[in-house]
Amino acid sequence: MCGIVGYAGKKTALPVLLDGLARLEYRGYDSAGIAWIENSSIRRKRCQGKLAALRDILEGGRISDAPIGIGHTRWATHGAPTEENAHPHTDCTGSLVVVHNGIIENYFSLRNQLTEEGHTFRSETDTEVLAHLVEKYLEDDLSDAVRKALADVEGAYAMGVLWQGAPDTLVAARKESPLVLGLGKGENFMASDIPALLPYTRDIIFLEDGDLAVITADAIEIKRIDTGEPVQREVTTISWDATAAEKAGFRHFMLKEIYEQPQAILNTFRGRIIPETGRVEIPEIQLQPEAINGLSRIVLLACGTSWHAGLVAKYWIEEWAGIPVEVELASEFRYRRLLVDERVLTVPISQSGETADTLAGLRIAKERNSPVISICNVVGSTITRESRGTIYTHAGPEIGVASTKAFTSQLTALYILALFLAQTRETMSADERASKLRALAKVPGMIEKNLKALHDACTGLADEFYQHSDFLYLGRHLHFPIALEGALKLKEISYIHAEGYAAGEMKHGPIALIDRNMPVVALIPRDHVYEKMVSNVEEVRSRRGIIIAIAEEGDEDIARIAQHVITVPAIAEPAAKPFLFTIPLQLLAYEISFARGCDVDQPRNLAKSVTVE
Ligand code: G6P
Repeated sequence: MCGIVGYAGKKTALPVLLDGLARLEYRGYDSAGIAWIENSSIRRKRCQGKLAALRDILEGGRISDAPIGIGHTRWATHGAPTEENAHPHTDCTGSLVVVHNGIIENYFSLRNQLTEEGHTFRSETDTEVLAHLVEKYLEDDLSDAVRKALADVEGAYAMGVLWQGAPDTLVAARKESPLVLGLGKGENFMASDIPALLPYTRDIIFLEDGDLAVITADAIEIKRIDTGEPVQREVTTISWDATAAEKAGFRHFMLKEIYEQPQAILNTFRGRIIPETGRVEIPEIQLQPEAINGLSRIVLLACGTSWHAGLVAKYWIEEWAGIPVEVELASEFRYRRLLVDERVLTVPISQSGETADTLAGLRIAKERNSPVISICNVVGSTITRESRGTIYTHAGPEIGVASTKAFTSQLTALYILALFLAQTRETMSADERASKLRALAKVPGMIEKNLKALHDACTGLADEFYQHSDFLYLGRHLHFPIALEGALKLKEISYIHAEGYAAGEMKHGPIALIDRNMPVVALIPRDHVYEKMVSNVEEVRSRRGIIIAIAEEGDEDIARIAQHVITVPAIAEPAAKPFLFTIPLQLLAYEISFARGCDVDQPRNLAKSVTVE
């Protein structure tokens, strides 16, 4: 997730671009860069780190009064957060520049092909192939060259291009990454998100996938990338204030991040799986097949929500790849006698990559010669630097303290890691892997379609239950860790006492808590322990507990035993169900917290990144 801006007008572009980037910094701040056209030549300034550093560099010199430019604030995906990898990127001649948000999936083959054709690359980014591809096709019409270039590209992009041969024109294009245009008087804009534009205009065009826009000070012309056909897009007038706009109109970052999950999951598996053939490609883990085949055990190491993701993955890895897995709380792991050696793979899981206990555990595992492959959301963070390889989750910055999209992205990364291990160890057929990958590929769309209805249902439940002081969450098998995560979400943001339990353990204690005041959230997917779970729910019912069942669409039986039923889309593949069952638990916790007037995004006593022990 990065932020891009562009301006074509009559004013000085640079302050508008810097101001726009500042409003997009929530999308990433690994590096920043800006380019403009002055005396018919492209000029560019970039630097590592936050925008303030770029501002210092620019303000140290003469500020150009050029009326056209593009800018970028980066959340690194391909290549370290260095100045060389900062956008805008140029072609070989330096006469055109590109800013990009998204992932070019076939960048590796494009880069090889372009290198063979004589192009010279200066960064490690996927974006740079866009600059060279446009250069390759450029004759005298920039938008034609961009269209031809994009015909070669697989993946997601929101991009802006400037060329000194057309010094009044900015070309923008999008597919699967957000991009909006802003309409002004004698000036027009593009940006990844509305907040960047609100000080200048409230008249916005949402570009659709496959749209390309030719932007000048006085006009915007939109056409389709594939056919070149002109299209009209509606102008929407935005009424949000600036604070609401930062959250894209959502009340809180947490809610925005819950709604971003389909995209975050998609971004995490994009380019790494081939559902048709059952192949998983994650070369970044840098482990040879011999090493994978020689493993005696895997240790998943994490804290908080990331630990819950590990607990789910234990079921997948053991079942598919046949390797024993231990899921360790990092704070416990680091102070034990550890039976870890070079045949034990250690996988720290961390959103931030900076959690002190997880990092300490990683270092101890390394001292014992264990190979370390991390799962992390923040490129260049300490945990990734100290790991042999990292599978990045591509969730984008998570701002709400309670983790939501990072969790489902971690599940995604772990799901494909489990299949990768099964593929290398030949413990699962290609057909079975293909079927599991097809199921994963369906998940984002299924969540997206159901989100609004699910949200409404959870709001209704929250209205009824927000004053309760205790909750019990029950699940079995893959949904036991999801029950733990549901309980954690509720307690951390609403300050209600909540416990997650393996439903089969209920008889060994928690059943004593059940009375007519105790809401019990029961996760009842249609899987091989469905009947067992239903029996547990019956046990709650016979003690007059209040049952809030989360079940699959079409499961009519549940309504007979539960007073409240929330349904999620039914997916046949059992392993994919936890993704769908997680969402209502997040929404329920969110709405209860909101109803209680709590500080949803910054709950008391908690921190987003726990960098002390
Ligand atoms: C804190 C956060 C949690 C997170 C945990 C682990 O407690 O509030 O949301 O799950 O740390 O953080 P990590 O960045 O390592 O995933």
